[in-house]
Amino acid sequence: MKTVAIITTFVLAGILTAFYLGFSPGETTRILEYDDEQEGLEEQLVIRFSHVAAENTPKGMAARDFANRIQAKTNNEIKVEIYSNGELYQDQNEWEAVTNGNVEMIAPATSKLSTRFPNWQVLDLPYAFKGYDAVQDAYEGKIGQALLDDLKGTNVKGLGFWYNGFKQFTNNKHPIRLPSDMDQLHFRVMPGPVIKSQFEALNASTSELSFNKTYRNLEVGFVDGQENTISNIYSKKFYKKQAYMTLSNHAYLGYAVVIHEDFWEKLSKSQQVSFEEAMEETTNWVRRHSIEINDAHIREIKRSSDIELDVLTTEEVKRWRDVFKPVYNEAEQEISNNIIEELEGIQSNYSHQ
Ligand code: LMR
Repeated sequence: MKTVAIITTFVLAGILTAFYLGFSPGETTRILEYDDEQEGLEEQLVIRFSHVAAENTPKGMAARDFANRIQAKTNNEIKVEIYSNGELYQDQNEWEAVTNGNVEMIAPATSKLSTRFPNWQVLDLPYAFKGYDAVQDAYEGKIGQALLDDLKGTNVKGLGFWYNGFKQFTNNKHPIRLPSDMDQLHFRVMPGPVIKSQFEALNASTSELSFNKTYRNLEVGFVDGQENTISNIYSKKFYKKQAYMTLSNHAYLGYAVVIHEDFWEKLSKSQQVSFEEAMEETTNWVRRHSIEINDAHIREIKRSSDIELDVLTTEEVKRWRDVFKPVYNEAEQEISNNIIEELEGIQSNYSHQ
């Protein structure tokens, strides 16, 4: 009886001491409090997404939209870290970076792939696309598929195309309305054989400079002008260093969205499905919003600067199209026939100015 009393006293003392030292039910609840941010962190896959544009542009906003969607769809199993404004890699080295797996995703302007993959030149042909629907037919139809197929065997998988807008000319010398106004001017360009021959046809010279060095080169007058979408001209403040802008809509600038192949293979089937869904939703989003973003930016340029804006007439556009015929002849030597035929099919569905 005495032994039972001693044991009971010890057990009770043990329970009280444990309770006192911090194993109270309240404490237990606090320590184990559930934090869904932490869920699956150990298995979290991180995509480093590098691009050269600003955050408030179609590409910058599409990258953000995609990051939100993929994180939500995979319950944070996949996280996207966005490096914009060329913070990690510039135009010249982002392809190597994604090939080597130093980043997982990039979205270069399609022109930048045309130096490696000749068929991609088709997207740079001046006045190839009459309006946004024609661009969509190319990006999301047989041309886009053929171009993405060209990337097979490169350790980079093509996921699709994102939209920005039509390119416009800016310069510091004089208003540009006719092809002859380009004579002897010096332009900053993206790399791409068609872009080069476009300026040759205009008797203008070019320098291939990285996007994020353009502002400085306009400022010091190393180049007289450049061509870009309104959102790029606005977000990088090129219009502040230029006196004239021609709303020429002479070619379309959009993006190839690509991923490091080994990373893609690492994803589970269901992660790949989520990925493709997110990609499709963002593509739909940026197709619509890119137009609004560029419209908002031209309004802002008009409101806040005294740059002279020239809008080409139908008759003037015809003069430019005539001058660009040799550019087509040259590019058609490099681009496969079925892609050219497909482009002609799209063009016949939309009447040109
Ligand atoms: C450029 O170099 O002008 C563009 O590619 C920038 C961009 O990515 O929109």
